[in-house]
Amino acid sequence: MRFLFAATIFELWIPLAVAAVGHRIKNGNGTIAIEEAWTIPELLPAITRTPPLGEAVDVFIASFTDVHVRRLNLMNENNIDFMVISCATPCVQGVSDPVAAAALAVNVNNQMAAAISNDTTRFGGFASLSMHNATEAAQELRRTVNDLGFLGAMLNDYQQSGPDNTTLLFYDQPEYDVFWQTVTELDVPIYFHPRSNIAQIQTPLFGHAPFLEGPSEEYAVTLANHILGLCTNGVFDRFPDLKIIVGHLGERIPSDLFRIDEQLARNIPNGLMMQRNVTSYWHTNIFETTSGNFATPLLEFHKGQIGIDRILFSVDYPFVLIPEGAAWVESLNDVLDEKDLHSLRRGLAMELLHLED
Ligand SMILES: *[C@@H]1O[C@H](CO)[C@@H](O)[C@H](O)[C@H]1NC(C)=O
Ligand SMILES: *[C@@H]1O[C@H](CO)[C@@H](O)[C@H](O)[C@H]1NC(C)=O
Ligand SMILES: *[C@@H]1O[C@H](CO)[C@@H](O)[C@H](O)[C@H]1NC(C)=O
Ligand SMILES: *[C@@H]1O[C@H](CO)[C@@H](O)[C@H](O)[C@H]1NC(C)=O
Ligand SMILES: *[C@@H]1O[C@H](CO)[C@@H](O)[C@H](O)[C@H]1NC(C)=O
Repeated sequence: MRFLFAATIFELWIPLAVAAVGHRIKNGNGTIAIEEAWTIPELLPAITRTPPLGEAVDVFIASFTDVHVRRLNLMNENNIDFMVISCATPCVQGVSDPVAAAALAVNVNNQMAAAISNDTTRFGGFASLSMHNATEAAQELRRTVNDLGFLGAMLNDYQQSGPDNTTLLFYDQPEYDVFWQTVTELDVPIYFHPRSNIAQIQTPLFGHAPFLEGPSEEYAVTLANHILGLCTNGVFDRFPDLKIIVGHLGERIPSDLFRIDEQLARNIPNGLMMQRNVTSYWHTNIFETTSGNFATPLLEFHKGQIGIDRILFSVDYPFVLIPEGAAWVESLNDVLDEKDLHSLRRGLAMELLHLED
């Protein structure tokens, strides 16, 4: 409960300094993994029934509500010192009713804080937020960071809304500036995680080839739209200190920067409001993790495109097996020097999340 105590004390004296107080983690040379799913029992029915190959469905599903048994054992066996958990997709972003969504966010955050509060050197939390109202989202983020010791938030792509779920809220609009203002004041990163599309979009786009729903294709293209919306709508110009994290080796964006930049440049005369180019925001505002994308040549390519100082390790447990991710990252000593490998495994996460060992 150390972090609760620290938050309370500092809030009385210097509120804006709270986020800068380091979160103490296990001292060692193990990895840090930050896109790792967890959920509350009430949300288990929304979890996919497609586990990693070789894993039984019941073991897979049970892993989502576990912290201290299977998860911690796997961390110990695979040299993961610290894990940041977050609510499995779609979580609050799948709730169209604003009142129900706000209540779910508080419920998830409080249950998560309780679940990890006795082992904060091994576990941290990313908040879940209802994004129906940007002011209220900022308030809940502030509460979870200051009072619960959370390290940032995880948003599962757009917030569905409206009576038939078809009002999609994207955080690249000016009404979210009040949220981004608080995010930068707290100096915490916001992780953008994919979600499945609402049925009214998913069926016409993927009904012809339903196996492309989810992580193989739908997730990356849908989330990439949102990230590129943040860029092209000028969010990073208005909030130059904003830190966004994207998983799965960047949802393909850093693989395609040449074409993205070249095509967008043609729209500057047509009123494109972004003041720089997409590549440059990957050097100043956007980070990626390796979650579920253990492709060594692609990592090396991205190192050249955005820099190794923008890339962090993650697994994507339980959707992806911890031993697979752990074995892969340790194999990288063939392609990264000691300094770069340390940054990827641990160092950059320490800096970005204000961790101390
Ligand atoms: C971590 O590894 C470095 C070498 O890479 C070593 O100098 C240091 O002592 C190790 N720290 C711990 C806590 O094991
Ligand atoms: C934390 O509490 C859980 C029960 O919720 C228990 O299994 C675990 O061993 C505890 N961890 C520590 C470090 O006390
Ligand atoms: C958002 O929430 C704030 C604070 O509760 C409230 O003042 C404001 O009216 C809400 N905005 C909308 C559009 O509902
Ligand atoms: C809206 O989404 C909810 C689940 O969030 C679902 O139960 C409901 O059927 C959906 N409504 C429509 C019209 O698709
Ligand atoms: C992107 O912008 C940076 C400056 O912010 C510039 O150095 C670079 O050449 C630009 N890249 C392209 C492909 O336009």
